[in-house]
Amino acid sequence: MSENKKKLLDKISAHDARVGVVGLGYVGLPLLVEFARGGFNSTGFEVDAKKAEAINRGESYIPDIPTAQVAEMVEAKRLGATTDFAQLKEQDVIIICVPTPLRKTKDPDVSYILAASEKIQACLRPGQLIILESTTYPGTTDEVLKPMLDATGLKLDEDYFLAFSPERVDPGNEKFNTKNITKVVGGVSETSAQVASVVYGAIVDKVHTVSSARVAEACKLLENTFRAVNIGLVNELARLCDTLGIDTWEVIAAAATKPFGFMPFYPGPGIGGHCIPLDPHYLSWKARMHGFEARFISLAEEVNSRMPDHVVDLVTRGLNNHRKPVNGSKVLIMGVAYKRDIDDMRESPALGIIEKLQSLGAETQFHDPYVEEIHLEGNGHRLRGIALSVEAVSEADCVVIVTDHRNIDYAWLTEHAKLVIDTRNSTRGLNDFEDKIIRL
Ligand SMILES: NC(=O)c1ccc[n+]([C@@H]2O[C@H](COP(=O)([O-])OP(=O)(O)OC[C@H]3O[C@@H](n4cnc5c(N)ncnc54)[C@H](O)[C@@H]3O)[C@@H](O)[C@H]2O)c1
Repeated sequence: MSENKKKLLDKISAHDARVGVVGLGYVGLPLLVEFARGGFNSTGFEVDAKKAEAINRGESYIPDIPTAQVAEMVEAKRLGATTDFAQLKEQDVIIICVPTPLRKTKDPDVSYILAASEKIQACLRPGQLIILESTTYPGTTDEVLKPMLDATGLKLDEDYFLAFSPERVDPGNEKFNTKNITKVVGGVSETSAQVASVVYGAIVDKVHTVSSARVAEACKLLENTFRAVNIGLVNELARLCDTLGIDTWEVIAAAATKPFGFMPFYPGPGIGGHCIPLDPHYLSWKARMHGFEARFISLAEEVNSRMPDHVVDLVTRGLNNHRKPVNGSKVLIMGVAYKRDIDDMRESPALGIIEKLQSLGAETQFHDPYVEEIHLEGNGHRLRGIALSVEAVSEADCVVIVTDHRNIDYAWLTEHAKLVIDTRNSTRGLNDFEDKIIRL
């Protein structure tokens, strides 16, 4: 065992290792706080000074992380954040949690990973473990990070260690969090995998070590592609059942009674967030580089991306039943975040639905307990959310449930609405109002 490996493992087991997390968003901040709670001296590295300042004031800006937790750790001097990347040198473990968006062409944009890696490269010293957590195509850790770190002259496994570990956090999930979700770890070498597994073992309940960084990278992409494809399947089923006049939700509920071989997925207004709409493209892009066309991925994307238009079709159909055109009708959108109980608007299908309705002449309003204002990139409009009231609901010609946040009383909403387009099955069981409801 190299002297550097031994020293690092000793520091980790004594919880003396200093942990730096680069990028303090939905993924990085919960991870950083978990290390602080695990007794490690934890420092966040951010390009956004406002986020670093908030942490240092003891404030959280991520709904899943209570401010009290941040304040307690800052008070205990185990948690802090900085925009000074020179302090990366003082860290024993550095974990990269920066965004991995797509370019307009739907090719991977690893520029944030490159920017973070350049800062790390400039500070790399013997005895450091670098881990990439950002979701990315298989090969990124080996082909992009390793050459950059090797270029410093330091040697893998003797001087530094390098691994990939996918993040599986599910914002808004009350049952599963950073600590109780099994952590998959793959190293660019066996030694790196061992060291990285020990680090995560110090803060999470279970670590699953795989044979390479590529397997860990592909594992994350399989998880999200699995979801994109299955959501695509039920979205297609929803449109198929609509054509055949069958209740999709009842079909799925019945199939879900089978105790094996079936896992329910539900249709919706389209996919959103930073993961499901983007990550499968990282896999298909890499496959295409090797001459392989990933057909399930493109088919799922095609089906899922049609859903916002399908919702607008349902609005048109519902208004038509009431002898009203979309043009000039008041449409109230309920919930605009991409999923329930969070404030994340990234890739939210609500945006496309509202833009399309506006282009058809509808007067659109929205209510979302987590979102105050939205910006529609397609037409440049800004829209402020409205408070929920009997007047707002009863004056709307149509209410569209896009995101079903838990704290909304759908019985009350449906009672006061003229027409409800329900994309989430939130109004199931409201038998007295069935004639007002159109379900996806
Ligand atoms: N949000 C999720 O639910 C989720 C779940 C699993 C995996 N992921 C993956 O995790 C990664 C991060 O996602 P996120 O949702 O936390 O993104 P985010 O946008 O919430 O946070 C990223 C943070 O990184 C900062 N940043 C950007 N460039 C930086 C740099 N060079 N140095 C330091 N900080 C920098 C940004 O200011 C931002 O605060 C992505 O690859 C994403 O696909 C996200």
